[in-house]
Amino acid sequence: MKPMTALLSVTLVIASAAHALAEATPIHVRKTNGCGCCLAWMEHLEDNRFAPTGENMAAVLLVRYKLDNGIPQRMISCHTADVEGYIVEGHVPAADIRRLLEERPDAIGLAVPDMPLGSPGMDQSRRTESYDVFLIRNDGTTEVFASYPGE
Ligand code: CU
Ligand code: CU
Repeated sequence: MKPMTALLSVTLVIASAAHALAEATPIHVRKTNGCGCCLAWMEHLEDNRFAPTGENMAAVLLVRYKLDNGIPQRMISCHTADVEGYIVEGHVPAADIRRLLEERPDAIGLAVPDMPLGSPGMDQSRRTESYDVFLIRNDGTTEVFASYPGE
């Protein structure tokens, strides 16, 4: 490769990386230290134009944070994220977060309770199970936002 061509391609790589960063949506993820599936979910977000930042909390304080922010006990999972004023609890697919941010319903946010196998960040094993993504309304009621079939 000629020096000028090499310089040009390096410049292009930097430009496209900067462009990707500019487009990524910041999302802050509260989790417990050593939670592997939380990190796997954050990678899934990164692959889908989100820019996650992680914060480790003591388990007790994290549960308190969830409840204080309007997540019903039956909706609880491992990590709790906030993005553009919404709460995202558990292994919610990036596409559903994107839809939430586009539709902007009057709600607390989304949740995938527990940790269903096959959801993003829980897809290391071959087994998958069906699960729902719930919309949490401001009064604590929930409705199905999206459904994923298992295998
Ligand atoms: Cu998890
Ligand atoms: Cu997690």
